[in-house]
Amino acid sequence: MKILVTGGCGYIGSHTVVDLLNENYDVVIIDNLSNSKKDVIEKIKKITGKNVTFYEFDMCSKEKLREVFEKENISSVIHFAGLKAVGESVEKPLMYYENNLISTLNLLELMKEYNVKKIVFSSSATVYGNPKSLPIKEDFPLSTTNPYGTTKLMIERILKDLYQANNSFDITILRYFNPIGAHFSGLLGEDPNGIPNNLMPYIMKVAVGKLPILSVFGNDYNTIDGTGVRDYVHVCDLSYGHVLALKNPKPGLKIYNLGTGRGTSVLELINTFEKVNGVTINKKIVGRREGDIDACYASIDKAKEELGFEPRYNIEDMCKDSYNFVKKSN
Ligand code: NAD
Ligand code: UFG
Repeated sequence: MKILVTGGCGYIGSHTVVDLLNENYDVVIIDNLSNSKKDVIEKIKKITGKNVTFYEFDMCSKEKLREVFEKENISSVIHFAGLKAVGESVEKPLMYYENNLISTLNLLELMKEYNVKKIVFSSSATVYGNPKSLPIKEDFPLSTTNPYGTTKLMIERILKDLYQANNSFDITILRYFNPIGAHFSGLLGEDPNGIPNNLMPYIMKVAVGKLPILSVFGNDYNTIDGTGVRDYVHVCDLSYGHVLALKNPKPGLKIYNLGTGRGTSVLELINTFEKVNGVTINKKIVGRREGDIDACYASIDKAKEELGFEPRYNIEDMCKDSYNFVKKSN
């Protein structure tokens, strides 16, 4: 079985490609390297001892995408490709709508044309907006607060409409919570360009002295210690969720949360990182970041029941693997 992985050089995509190769799938990657590096391909080969086909282009080009469908005998698609920085999406909404929506429409049109019916799509917990209660279940109301989140919600809507029109499509929408951690080899992980927006990449840069101090955004939230609570999930657990979604025999349109079901505060994450890695993270408490919510964690009962999704790694593992990666890559 040949799986097309869009955005396969990125953080979650690269880990998923490793899992797919380990499960003996053939893999074709498309990535324009707008937020990743080509050496990821060599690293994937090194980890798995297997080959992968790589195409470098922007999926907004339908003609280039068509060439891949023409040449490769694709049986299923995992669609990671997209821009994902919340703040940037507020500043450059048109770039986000164009990149995330046009690439997806091109992909879906070609899947239809070439009779490829199975797709797994990367959505996000951001589609739940400010949840009415916790843990968050898949049937909670949906809303967004920024253009990035709106692209995810719009693509979910497009997929639902596509399925409505043609129920031979087999569609899985995965709503990720907060992926952190890295491959245990230290070869793959998250290494954003410039100053990171997300907590763990920021902690990692402070840990290796690339940034002087971490700002903790608010300690007056209604949480265990006043700092924001999130559901951090090891990227290797998340990536394996995609293999489970591909193997899921249940037909139709399915939506699953992928997280751990446990909330961890900012201070808890920092303390664990310091403890397991024997380092000190310089930090200061500052005001809240606009748009942040108190707490967000998933109910993963549905993914457990229907996919057999069972997270294997805890916060300690996530902190160790993140540090191992950042030490090796700096
Ligand atoms: P990432 O930026 O590391 O990977 C995305 C990849 O897609 C990159 O390699 C980028 O170069 C590529 N890409 C972007 N636009 C493209 C285009 N037009 N054509 C071809 N390639 C393109 O991000 P990630 O963290 O691996 O996230 C993967 C997916 O999961 C994204 O859709 C993201 O929105 C979603 N997601 C991520 C998180 C998270 O916290 N990391 C949370 C929820 C959802
Ligand atoms: N935080 C800090 N300091 C920082 C960065 C973050 O204190 O420098 C805090 C935030 O206030 C929040 C927590 O750390 O309480 C987590 O923040 P992240 O930016 O790491 O993650 P978010 O939950 O805000 O958002 C991320 C992605 C979204 C995605 C969401 C759910 O950025 O795109 O996870 O998947 F929608």
